[in-house]
Amino acid sequence: MTVFLVGAGPGDPDLLTLKAARLLGQADVVVYDRLVGPDILAMIAPWAERIDVGKNPYGKRTNQTEINRILIDRGAQHETVVRLKGGDPFVFGRGGEEALDLEAAGIDVQVVPGITSSIAGPAAAGIPVTHRGVSSAFTVVTAHQDPTKPGSIDWEALARLNSTLVVLMGATRAARIRARLLSAGMDPTTPVAVVVEATTPRQRQFRLTLADLGDRPIPNPAVIVIGGVAAEPVIANETNPNLAAALHEHRALEGASSWH
Ligand SMILES: C[S@@+](CC[C@H](N)C(=O)[O-])C[C@H]1O[C@@H](n2cnc3c(N)ncnc32)[C@H](O)[C@@H]1O
Repeated sequence: MTVFLVGAGPGDPDLLTLKAARLLGQADVVVYDRLVGPDILAMIAPWAERIDVGKNPYGKRTNQTEINRILIDRGAQHETVVRLKGGDPFVFGRGGEEALDLEAAGIDVQVVPGITSSIAGPAAAGIPVTHRGVSSAFTVVTAHQDPTKPGSIDWEALARLNSTLVVLMGATRAARIRARLLSAGMDPTTPVAVVVEATTPRQRQFRLTLADLGDRPIPNPAVIVIGGVAAEPVIANETNPNLAAALHEHRALEGASSWH
C-alpha cells in the first residue's frame, strides 16, 4: 500500500517520466490537479478511480485538508495510489505536506520527480535558465506568498543577484513584482519573458522589459523569466544577438571549448 507523489511535468505528455507513465497504468486510484491535461489523464487505467481535486484559482477547489484526507483514506485501502501533480511534486506543489501527513498516518509514500515548469517553461521558449556569460545561477520563486509570514521572499536581495529569476504563480501579481524589483534597484530595461501554457499546443510567449511587466494581463498558467537570458531565445529559428555574442566571446577566451 503506497501513495506515489508523481510529477506530471509541464504539460506535454512526452515529457512525462517512464515511471510516471507506468504507475498511471497500474494505479487503483489517481488523485489529480488542475494543471494535468487530458492526454496524460488518458493514460490512467480504465478501472481506476479518478478524483479531480483541481485547484482553479477562480472557481471550486478542494482544500488541502480534504486532499490529505482523501489520500490517507485511499492509501489505507489500495495497493497503488497516484497523487498526480503538475511539474514536480516538490516545487510549489505542497507535496511535502502531503508526504508528512501520509507518513504520520502510517502510509508508505514515494516521490516520482517530474520536469518542473520553472525550467521547462523557459526552455520551451528557447530560453536557457543559465547561460555562460549571461547568467550563472537561477532562482525560482512564487509570487503567491504572504509577505507577513516567516521566510517571506526578500525581493531586495533577489534584485541584487544579477542572475535569472523565474517566477511561478505570478500572472495576477506581475505589476507588484515589477514594483518590488524596481524599488529594490533592478534596471527597468532588464529583459523579461512570459511563457504561457508552456509545452502544450497552446503555448505562446511574450518578450518585454521589467518596466512594462504588469501593464498587460497575463493568462494562467504562466512562467515569468526575468534577466539577461530572457532577451532572445537561443533556438527556434530566431536570431539571438545578445546571447550569441556572449557565447562567442567565451568560446574565444576558452579556446573554442564546447559549452555545457
Ligand atoms: C502551484 S504551481 C506548481 C508548479 C509545479 N509543481 C512545477 O514544478 O512546475 C503552479 C504554477 O506553475 C507554473 N506552471 C505550471 N505549468 C505551467 C505551464 N505549462 N506553463 C507555464 N507555467 C506553468 C505557473 O506559474 C503556475 O501558476
